[in-house]
Amino acid sequence: MSASPLAGKRIVLGVTGGIAAYKAIEVSRRLVDAGAHVVPIMTDAAQHFVGATTLSALASEPVQTELWNNPTTPIPHTEVGQGADLIIVAPATAKSIAAYRMGYSHDLLQNTLIATRAPVIVCPAMHTEMWEHPSVVDNIATLRARGVHIVEPETGRLAGGDVGAGRLASPETIVAAAERLLGPSDLAGVKVVVSAGGTREPIDAVRVIANRSSGKQGYAIAAEAAARGAQVTLVSTVGLPTPADVQVVAVETAAEMQSAMETAAGDHDVIVMAAAVADFRPSNAASGKIKKHDGVPEITLEPTPDILAALGGSKRAGQVLVGFAAETADLISNAQGKLERKRLDLIVANDVSAPGVGFAHDTNAVTMLRPDAKPVEIDLATKRDVARAVIDAVVDIRSAR
Ligand code: C5P
Repeated sequence: MSASPLAGKRIVLGVTGGIAAYKAIEVSRRLVDAGAHVVPIMTDAAQHFVGATTLSALASEPVQTELWNNPTTPIPHTEVGQGADLIIVAPATAKSIAAYRMGYSHDLLQNTLIATRAPVIVCPAMHTEMWEHPSVVDNIATLRARGVHIVEPETGRLAGGDVGAGRLASPETIVAAAERLLGPSDLAGVKVVVSAGGTREPIDAVRVIANRSSGKQGYAIAAEAAARGAQVTLVSTVGLPTPADVQVVAVETAAEMQSAMETAAGDHDVIVMAAAVADFRPSNAASGKIKKHDGVPEITLEPTPDILAALGGSKRAGQVLVGFAAETADLISNAQGKLERKRLDLIVANDVSAPGVGFAHDTNAVTMLRPDAKPVEIDLATKRDVARAVIDAVVDIRSAR
């Protein structure tokens, strides 16, 4: 299984003085979790918002703040930037963006930014009035034109209770931008559709038949495909945070999922059915609420359409079709049967009765089967790691054609 593209990379995390500085702690933690070596730099103003001790504890080495009398090195103004694989400035204030645009190297962070050839990601955070001010708009446009990667702020609640554009992008989005920049772009220009979550089939106006699927594995696959340059559509029954650069289509029932998947199948190159689709649904859902005093209702079930089998039947040349098999017994033989019956290129089988595996967990252990290759086993790993292995297999299938 390939490692995260951030593993072993030296990433300078520059934190400037805004309220959102506290989110830099989470960015650092996520980068370290992905195996990166995080070199933290804080400006003087940043230290008014979060303590250097906190960031030092969660980064890979102590925070550096000083251009002069730096205890780490006598020439910090060039050493930090020269050794970096990537620099992320999060949050970036209007002042730090202006200084960077001008090459005004008055502190350690600004020196580092102009003494590097590494790619730079700037994550602005400020009040809406500032974000929309012509000077900031102009500075951002200039940085962009120079090849600096800007992770745009979100619209939401700002310091002081204001609401508008200018809130720092989420740590997840910032780390996804780093993965996209340092990782392979082996799905650039490829259209991928992923289904995620369990379907919900109405019994009446308030009750549904549901299942235990959390959607986490499907979301991780969508995030991984997007990080590798794909154009991703996620057909989802759950409300997890939308991964960066992913288009979500919300559905609830198997019928709605089928219609969304069939539409997407028309122009998508890769289809991943990670959703847990109900096998049966009530044949006549009541339009109102079934009342308790009318007695225990008899609910007649009918089969739902097998979306994946239908997609296998209408598969276009070159299209890659991936299914999942959640089993509690005879994992491999059951999965092998589905691989053949549904005309899949890859099936990801997991024993959902094993500890830490499958529904709702953050980890998974799977065996990947292909019609023409040896089975690949992935021992207990994060769902993102499993997603990386699934996308590796998809890339391999595409390149073998
Ligand atoms: O046959 P089984 O339900 O175990 O197959 C699992 C695979 O088939 C999953 O990829 C699931 O998303 C898909 N499926 C489907 N439509 C159904 C049932 C399952 O697309 N009605």
